[in-house]
Amino acid sequence: FTASVAISPDHVIAPVRRRLFGSFVEHMGRCVHTGIHEPGHPTADEDGFRGDVLALTRELGVELVRYPGGNFVSGYRWEDGIGPVADRPVRRDLAWHSIETNAVGVDEFVRWARKADVEVMYAVNLGTRGVAEALDVHEYVNHEGGTHLAELRRRNGAERPHDVRLWCLGNELDGPWQTGHKTAHEYGRLAAETARALRQAEPGLELVACGSSHSRMPTFGAWEATVLELAYDQVDHISCHAYYEVLDGDVDSFLASAVDMDRQIESVVATADAVGARLRSRKRIGVSFDEWNVWYQTRFQADPPTEWQVAPRLIEDTYDVADAVVVGNLLISLLRHGDRVTAACQAQLVNVIAPIRTEPGGPAWRQTTFHPFALTSRLARGHVLRTEITAPTHTTARHGDVPVVDAVATHDPSSGETVLFAVNRHRTEPVELRVATKAFGDLEVAESWILHDPDPSATNTEHTPDRVVPRPHPTERTDNSVRVVLPPISWHAIRLG
Ligand code: AHR
Repeated sequence: FTASVAISPDHVIAPVRRRLFGSFVEHMGRCVHTGIHEPGHPTADEDGFRGDVLALTRELGVELVRYPGGNFVSGYRWEDGIGPVADRPVRRDLAWHSIETNAVGVDEFVRWARKADVEVMYAVNLGTRGVAEALDVHEYVNHEGGTHLAELRRRNGAERPHDVRLWCLGNELDGPWQTGHKTAHEYGRLAAETARALRQAEPGLELVACGSSHSRMPTFGAWEATVLELAYDQVDHISCHAYYEVLDGDVDSFLASAVDMDRQIESVVATADAVGARLRSRKRIGVSFDEWNVWYQTRFQADPPTEWQVAPRLIEDTYDVADAVVVGNLLISLLRHGDRVTAACQAQLVNVIAPIRTEPGGPAWRQTTFHPFALTSRLARGHVLRTEITAPTHTTARHGDVPVVDAVATHDPSSGETVLFAVNRHRTEPVELRVATKAFGDLEVAESWILHDPDPSATNTEHTPDRVVPRPHPTERTDNSVRVVLPPISWHAIRLG
């Protein structure tokens, strides 16, 4: 197979939004307890945060972290997680059939986020709670001082407000599994009134309304339309969530998952714009893709938790090379839609369907999926460029005919550097890719990385943590192009500088 890509520094789609490199820490399984937080661990700091996980979070290039859930937040009482740890109540978490000790709450999480150098995206409970409790947690987190809850925060050791800018108005309330599940009308009214009240408290907040839990929900599209008809003027973004896995052994469709993400984003944008047009509004709603990843969800559904345990091992998927290629491709899709996707969070950060894994008292290591995220975050700078791809297509059962190659390019006008991210989604055929670079003058290939393995099911484990890593990959420079061979099931990053 052969394919080509044409890019030009003049064809800018959007800025590279750093908030696209978001992640997610939920009180679920071992994401918080023995994930980011493990007092007594050999690398733990004075606050009980694992130093190895903090270092890997920085290396991953995470910019934003959503907290504290997820399904967990829909039954959460934020005030359980403040004040002296010994006095905090132990509670049932209905979402994950687990016991929550509340040893970590919002003050600890913000402290962790400062150490990790990430922005916090905070989700309020609109499942079992409403406007009053959202205002309370906002007062505690963001109000300067002189009021009951702001002074309580100060007494708890946080003199300065936490200054959280980005707030999620609940989580997946369209889902019948959600504690406090609602109809679109019920949720749209609650989201609008919560948003109105939060803005009375602090006008400059950025607010995210819940979109559908995934694009196969029976109410997908209708939910977004109703919610936005009720809350358009009050919110800034609408959420998208999507998880992908190999279903019925159909690897070709799985490798083309980004096609589905493209369609989901474009459908939600079209729906939001249609509501905006009906309302004669000039405002445009952004997409917060605040949960996305590969998740072998069918395995979890076959074996849900039955015991009430603290920090059980939940959905600790081990990822292989093919999973990492899909993750790299999903990042390509998010970047390409940077004109409308304003934030995105890979779910989750540690242990729970995560790029970072840990053992209690033991090591932390990088899963295969760590690498495309880390390289994309490090290399994507400046603007996203329109990328014209000419590639052969093949037919997939779920997504129809799809191009075998997908790619996106970024260009940083301040350094002149251009980076191409590309995947070969074919299971068996290599592709020879030509990248037309005439518009960039005589830039040389400064670095070229491949994530690939002759065995696409290869994984990294505690004992073989570097079995799968990105490796330098040869390219051939001619006067007007760069030629590179993309082996089957491979992800690439090529920096011209
Ligand atoms: O990330 C795991 C779960 O997936 C989240 O709690 C929920 O929002 C989604 O269904």
